[in-house]
Amino acid sequence: MKMASRPHIRRYAWPAMALHWLVALLIFGLFPLGLYMSELPLSVLKLQLYAWHKWFGITVLLLVVLRLGWRAGHRPPELPASIPRWQQRVAEWLHGLLYVLILGIPLSGWMLSSAADVRVVWWGVLALPMLLPTSKPLAHALVLVHATLNYTLAALVAVHVAAALKHQFIDRDGVLSRMLPGSSR
Ligand code: HEM
Repeated sequence: MKMASRPHIRRYAWPAMALHWLVALLIFGLFPLGLYMSELPLSVLKLQLYAWHKWFGITVLLLVVLRLGWRAGHRPPELPASIPRWQQRVAEWLHGLLYVLILGIPLSGWMLSSAADVRVVWWGVLALPMLLPTSKPLAHALVLVHATLNYTLAALVAVHVAAALKHQFIDRDGVLSRMLPGSSR
């Protein structure tokens, strides 16, 4: 009896996959770190955590630029034809918004640090340019921007993860497997 062959799943290339999971991992660490550190009273620990937050945050910015560079030269695999056109559109828009946020959040952090007259010295080695002149009101406004972009990201990531799990365990169309290392069958 001939076994029904499982659909051939076209996957993301390994650089796209590696950058996806590395950026996700870093953001899942940076978010709670940001919430925790900003509530701390001024101390050596708070200043150290701010430094780590900024160093990893700028690293995320760099990785996202690398990822967009890769994506520009390597089109992501088509979604399975079983997914209705309108859902494919929604997914494209959601991915686009996620990219805008994971670029905008570290940039807004870098801008707020600049407006607060605190130069970011990446990993204590590379002094980054100040993106904005010193301005207390601007720094305060950018704290709000940074936080708002973060809570928007948290909401969209929840939708993104829920959609991936629905495709994997309800629709069983292998969409999540496209971003997981492993065989193409
Ligand atoms: C994707 C990367 C990043 C994520 C996910 C992230 C997340 C967060 C979160 C959740 C908070 C707490 C917001 C709140 O109080 O509600 C925060 C605070 C903060 N972040 Fe980030 N951040 C990132 C990158 C950066 C970068 C690159 C910098 C600076 C170079 C930065 C500077 C700050 C500062 C200074 C605060 C404290 C604001 C305050 O005084 O309350 N962040 N971040």
